Amino acid sequence: MRAEVAAVTDWSCPRRAGVDALNYRHAFHAGNFADVHKHSVLVRIVLHLRLKPAPFRIIDTHAGAGGYDLFAPEPIRSPEWRAGIGRLWEASAEEFPPALAPYLDVVKAFNPDGALRFYPGSPLIAAALLRPGDRSIACEIEPGAMEWLAKALRNRVNTKAVAIDGWTALGAYIPPKERRGLILIDPPFEDANEFSRLPEALSAAYRKWPTGIYMLWYPIKERAAPDALARRLRRCAISNVLRSELLLCPPRAEGGLIGSGLVLINPPHTLEQDLGTFMPALAKLLSPRATVRTDWLVRPGRSGGQRAVEC
Ligand SMILES: C[S@@+](CC[C@H](N)C(=O)[O-])C[C@H]1O[C@@H](n2cnc3c(N)ncnc32)[C@H](O)[C@@H]1O
Repeated sequence: MRAEVAAVTDWSCPRRAGVDALNYRHAFHAGNFADVHKHSVLVRIVLHLRLKPAPFRIIDTHAGAGGYDLFAPEPIRSPEWRAGIGRLWEASAEEFPPALAPYLDVVKAFNPDGALRFYPGSPLIAAALLRPGDRSIACEIEPGAMEWLAKALRNRVNTKAVAIDGWTALGAYIPPKERRGLILIDPPFEDANEFSRLPEALSAAYRKWPTGIYMLWYPIKERAAPDALARRLRRCAISNVLRSELLLCPPRAEGGLIGSGLVLINPPHTLEQDLGTFMPALAKLLSPRATVRTDWLVRPGRSGGQRAVEC
């Protein structure tokens, strides 16, 4: 992995005037508490997939730029990573949750000098954990981020960067031929419709591939939108839906991101217990006021049933 990391020497991911289609830039947020939550669960799921010899596929619908230089202008202006991966990096062995060691090992592999400088995004984290027969597809629509993503993945034979709308990819690429794997859905939540389109998009994907693992990330700024999402998912004809939330503090009058949420459909059977063990320890590392929640929106074997609606 080290040689490939070395090939990506500039991850500053500059914005190109007149080319970028979207405002969201993950470079400002790379390695923050929400990335730590999302990526530590991502690693747990991929490690679970690796337990069986049969190959699997990861489809990352909103992949971002691939990797991030934590000392580029964006994170210097807004060093969110210091309160995220920075805390894990500095944690003592006693306070560090053992279940997060494989995640930290992936981040360490991208920082062979021993100082934290590069943060791998979801496509590079996934790529680092693939076995020779496994595959991943990373989708990105913003041209600037796509250029960097293609660069970051160029030496990875079993990983493909595709310039495609992630919502289109969700319909087009599933079910994958391996019939095993993970769909990561991590949209930027730039527009107000993003929350409301999720149950419908997830339901359509689930109908096409009911046995896939789905992991959806959502921001928590207040309770209304995440709670409405949970209510709608409870009424969909989807079974086996686990929720994991990490809250740094109660909602603030001035707004802003105060928490990170994950919806996990068909999670590995060990994940609920796993989350129960490492999430409280992770929360403690991130902030003394942080709290966590792990609960089933729909238990395995159940679904909206008679009440199930088009989502
Ligand atoms: C939250 S970031 C992704 C972070 C990445 N998954 C990670 O964990 O490292 C969301 C990305 O989605 C991209 N994006 C926005 N709308 C998209 C769409 N419709 N299809 C694909 N990518 C999109 C944005 O340009 C941005 O890079």
